[in-house]
Amino acid sequence: MKVCIVYESKYGNGKKCVEYLQNIIKAKGYDIDSFSIREIKPNLLPEADFYIFSSPTHIGNVPWKMRRFLKKIKPIGGIKYALMTTCINPDTKVIQKMEEILSKKGMIKISETKIKVKGMKGPLEEKYKEKLDAFAEEIFG
Ligand SMILES: Cc1cc2nc3c(=O)[nH]c(=O)nc-3n(C[C@H](O)[C@H](O)[C@H](O)COP(=O)(O)O)c2cc1C
Repeated sequence: MKVCIVYESKYGNGKKCVEYLQNIIKAKGYDIDSFSIREIKPNLLPEADFYIFSSPTHIGNVPWKMRRFLKKIKPIGGIKYALMTTCINPDTKVIQKMEEILSKKGMIKISETKIKVKGMKGPLEEKYKEKLDAFAEEIFG
């Protein structure tokens, strides 16, 4: 099964989570790649059987670059995906906002996680690895 992670990360905290997650999922035997939205085009999203989208929380919302990217993805009905956000305030609605965009394309969300950062530029909360281990376990077993 091919897994594709697509992420935005302004200060590198989300990217660090993506790299950790990619290693765990790879160790479970999956074929996995990750791409920043700054390096790929939404209409040329690499083909995969499962997607993970990761975004920071900016002003209570999905940063506009990520929002624009998600809106431009071609509909891939029936494809399953999971969502991840980094945030200071865990009441963030970023997961729901990303899901709103993707469900309109017929995609199916099966899991989500929120990873806290201690300040605008990080660092990540201490237990971020445990949270990502549990996230990967929930999705891939
Ligand atoms: C312009 C801006 C607005 C932000 N607004 C919020 C916010 O409303 N809620 C929140 O929890 N974090 C907010 N943050 C902090 C981000 O959550 C934090 O910078 C991000 O998670 C770090 O991830 P990154 O290193 O991958 O960019 C904001 C950060 C920036 C730069």
